[in-house]
Amino acid sequence: MGERLLYEGKAKRVLATGDPDVLLHRYKDEATAFDGRKRGSWRGKGRTNATMSAAMFRYLEEHGVPTHFIEQVDDTTLKTKRLEMLPVEVVVRNVAAGSLAKRLGYEEGTPLRQPVVELYLKNDELGDPLVNRYHLRELGVDDGTLAACEEMGLKVNDTLRPFFEERGITLVDFKIEIGRDTEGNLLLADEISPDTCRFWDRETGERLDKDRFRRDMGGVEEAYAEVLRRVTGEG
Ligand SMILES: Nc1ncnc2c1ncn2[C@@H]1O[C@H](COP(=O)(O)OP(=O)(O)O)[C@@H](O)[C@H]1O
Ligand SMILES: [Mg+2]
Repeated sequence: MGERLLYEGKAKRVLATGDPDVLLHRYKDEATAFDGRKRGSWRGKGRTNATMSAAMFRYLEEHGVPTHFIEQVDDTTLKTKRLEMLPVEVVVRNVAAGSLAKRLGYEEGTPLRQPVVELYLKNDELGDPLVNRYHLRELGVDDGTLAACEEMGLKVNDTLRPFFEERGITLVDFKIEIGRDTEGNLLLADEISPDTCRFWDRETGERLDKDRFRRDMGGVEEAYAEVLRRVTGEG
């Protein structure tokens, strides 16, 4: 059906289809961290991230967040709308971890007074730096768009926090990407998975996300499978 590789990313292959407004995202088992300096791969990662992203996009759509998701085509492939991506990554945090703990001198695990929204420039060569709205204005992202991105990040947070809470998982933080469709609507895009979220078991604090890979904690395959099981009720 006229599949053509448009882009080979770190976690996915993005393919064009016969329809210029529709893409396929094929999720890979490979993982990278620290700007690509660390590499690895494990069985079931592509399936988990694709299946979990599909479930999250469906749930968010039901709760009023417009997304690029069309359907899950097979174990590792999602069909989505093709968007003009914004060069920005929106991070929302509920608990201090990773770079925020370092930036503010907080111990990891310190709850934040209220959700913290951060904007990063999506640019591998620059190492995805933290930027502010003046930088983004300079790069041509207007204030209205930025405000809408922050609002979408907070809405996703308000929607997913209780979803994971009910499944015994604390949503510590997450990253989203946003794009514009041909009509100019801003839609949630890319993926929502243990690669892009920090998930901590509510009881034990056990890490159920990519930090297991970043920090060589072991059990990464099992952790991803456990998150998928809690989200979809399957293994
Ligand atoms: N709906 C969409 N339309 C166009 N591009 C998208 C869409 N959703 C995600 N993308 C882009 O596709 C790529 C997905 O592949 P990924 O492996 O995550 O890449 P990267 O290594 O750049 O993070 C990303 O560059 C992401 O911004
Ligand atoms: Mg990516």
